[in-house]
Amino acid sequence: MERILEIYSRLRPAKVFADIGCDHGLVAELAAKNALAEKIYITDISAECLKKAEKLLKRFIDVGTVESVVCDGFSGIEEPVDEALIAGMGGEEIVKILSSSAYRCERLVLQPMKNPEKVRAYLVGNGYKILEDVTFRDVKYYDIVAAERGEDELSEEEILFGRTNLAERPQAFIDKVKAEIEDIGEYLKNPMNETSRAALTARREKLRGIL
Ligand SMILES: C[S@@+](CC[C@H](N)C(=O)[O-])C[C@H]1O[C@@H](n2cnc3c(N)ncnc32)[C@H](O)[C@@H]1O
Repeated sequence: MERILEIYSRLRPAKVFADIGCDHGLVAELAAKNALAEKIYITDISAECLKKAEKLLKRFIDVGTVESVVCDGFSGIEEPVDEALIAGMGGEEIVKILSSSAYRCERLVLQPMKNPEKVRAYLVGNGYKILEDVTFRDVKYYDIVAAERGEDELSEEEILFGRTNLAERPQAFIDKVKAEIEDIGEYLKNPMNETSRAALTARREKLRGIL
């Protein structure tokens, strides 16, 4: 539940909000209960997954505040979305969803499960300014990126690790970096080819440079 609350806390009031790939619908439920938006779309590519959210949000669907759409990304939403959440998917899938939508949302809250660097690079290359880009912990470590339309540039390090992480060094980020350094140390004890060893050693040096 901590992850859901971390995600929800990054959302802002909007006219139209969409939770893309909502599955259980827990974030959308908080948004509906708190009247975060005049209209909330819950979408999922899987009708089976969306049924869970439809059940949870039935009373809001019945009065028209929430609309449920089975679709790929934004494809089934027929009005402009001010703010969208895409959480719990890989960074590549998130980028695929964003790049296949003709409409650019004003604000995005993205929580990639892996490859956050691909999400950051996509955002700054496609007319978004990063507002916050941090690691948090809820048993596991998660990255969350909040962005709005605008101009931005990130250094190579910021793309890799997140600008807020590097500037503010939240404890979860530091712990994650330390854990990865330890994991690499353990992994390097195993036999492996020289190319893999060199790549892991270079990654460990980069991580050590952050601490
Ligand atoms: C692991 S769940 C994450 C659910 C929720 N967003 C969260 O963060 O807890 C990923 C959901 O994304 C849906 N999904 C995957 N690709 C999608 C796409 N291209 N468009 C819409 N939904 C998608 C899956 O069906 C699944 O229900």
